[in-house]
Amino acid sequence: MSIREKLDLLSARTDLSEQGGGAARLKAQHDKGKLSARERLDLLLDEGSFVESDRFVTHRSHDFGLEDQKVYGDGVVTGHGRINGRLVYVFSQDFTVFGGSLSEAFAEKICKVMDLAVRNGAPVIGLNDSGGARIQEGVVSLGGYAEIFLRNTLASGVVPQISAILGPCAGGAVYSPAITDFVYMVRGSSYMFVTGPNVVKTVTHEDVTMEQLGGADTHAGTSGVAHFAHDSELQSLQAIRDLFQFIPQNNLGDPPRGSGRDPRDRRDETLLEVVPDNANKPYDMHEVIRRVVDDGEFYEVHKDYAQNILCGFSHLGGYSVGIVANQPAVLAGVLDINASVKAARFVRFCDAFNIPIVTFEDVPGFLPGVSQEHGGIIRHGAKLLYAYCEATVPKLTVITRKAYGGAYDVMSSKHIRGDFNVAWPTAEIAVMGPKGAVEILFKKEIAEAPDPQKAMDERVAEYSAMFANPYVAASRGYLDDIIDPRDTRPRLIDALDTLQNKRDRNPARKHGNLPL
Ligand code: HXC
Repeated sequence: MSIREKLDLLSARTDLSEQGGGAARLKAQHDKGKLSARERLDLLLDEGSFVESDRFVTHRSHDFGLEDQKVYGDGVVTGHGRINGRLVYVFSQDFTVFGGSLSEAFAEKICKVMDLAVRNGAPVIGLNDSGGARIQEGVVSLGGYAEIFLRNTLASGVVPQISAILGPCAGGAVYSPAITDFVYMVRGSSYMFVTGPNVVKTVTHEDVTMEQLGGADTHAGTSGVAHFAHDSELQSLQAIRDLFQFIPQNNLGDPPRGSGRDPRDRRDETLLEVVPDNANKPYDMHEVIRRVVDDGEFYEVHKDYAQNILCGFSHLGGYSVGIVANQPAVLAGVLDINASVKAARFVRFCDAFNIPIVTFEDVPGFLPGVSQEHGGIIRHGAKLLYAYCEATVPKLTVITRKAYGGAYDVMSSKHIRGDFNVAWPTAEIAVMGPKGAVEILFKKEIAEAPDPQKAMDERVAEYSAMFANPYVAASRGYLDDIIDPRDTRPRLIDALDTLQNKRDRNPARKHGNLPL
């Protein structure tokens, strides 16, 4: 055969590999409102940057007539490409080939790109759309999943791992995305569950739809499994591209700088008006964040889950930062189980990937109640405490109003290695709020007073003057300064400047024992 004939053969096989499961199945995919594996990669990656690997790999199964049904690539398109010019490794499951189900060869292709990503220090992005384990391959397929889970675990904290769920994702297959750092889902077409509605019906007699059981809103708002829910695949894939404005290539790299257009010394007059005079009145912490960060941009993570705490990325003076903020507008910004777990995971991501953490604090404490205590608020609250304590990236804290009780300690206090801790003059830092404190300390005196309400008000005023302010903490050096709210942005940027060469480390050990 001449070289030209060999090239024709290569071209024919390449065409075949790009056809996946064929035109009819591709049409069925489009009819469901879903894109093909390759169309998704085109949208995710910089134009023309995708370089495919393993396009001629086929499955090795002979059972159930599979030997006659080999498809080049075997149901997953793998390789590397660029996002904003930066190298990323990708796999995109092709539902048109055996329902995107995972065979031994399919798993090997994914493992290969994951190994390359770790070796070459680049993020991995998985686009999931699969019927799960390839039924015909049995335990070999299960083994393939386990190989992927192992690599997800070993890559955790080494390179960012991102999962988009763009179709079904069932059984143990959900555990690979669950280990990754960020999960994106699409309303109406992506599902994650360990067992589907039919099994649920058989076992618990509950009637539930796919969407209710494991749709995007369920996981973004109720279970917290997904960090993002979007209305279309296009929006999800664009959101993944946007994430790259904030995250580094790997644990040894620096996060990307922002545009730096917003003046570093910009003061914001409206910050004087944000915190209401009445300490029990809510306000929206988004306002504070937007007025302080560069160009008001806040890439919010887990927006619909545990809304009493806000987590997300911004730039400040061009520096990429992770922001954690109590949200007084929801449940008074209290720390409960879900908020603690949400923020703990976010803090750990930032710490693993060299992203400074800026904390805006207005927290009345941990949420009291039987369900919280029985649900393990002690164990879950400890996760957030642990995450902040172990973090060695720059930690900056602004107390805007309340910092009460254990929550004061937890939220990046000076005592747990906060680098830059400041408060607004509106801050109240104490063991508990004035009313609760007075009821305990002066219970008898108030009960016996001729006018109990008057006695109560006097004691509350006395306590507030003495403790519900930032000056006691500042006099001890627990706060570095009490600042004019209008100066928050320039002061944070100046602190970030000083922390660029911060050196801090934890004791040598195999690993800590995070309270799980
Ligand atoms: C082999 C599969 C398959 C599978 C689907 N197909 N799932 N082939 N193994 N797991 C094939 C179908 O035979 C069909 O082939 C094509 O993919 C499309 O499937 P449809 O059923 O026609 O599509 P749809 O109606 O959209 O339904 C999609 C689905 C359903 C909900 C995913 O196919 C389904 O329930 N599949 C089985 C899911 C499952 O139980 N998987 C195992 C989970 S346990 P043709 O030739 O007709 O196109 C698991 C363990 C992982 O994954 C363990 C890790 C620890």
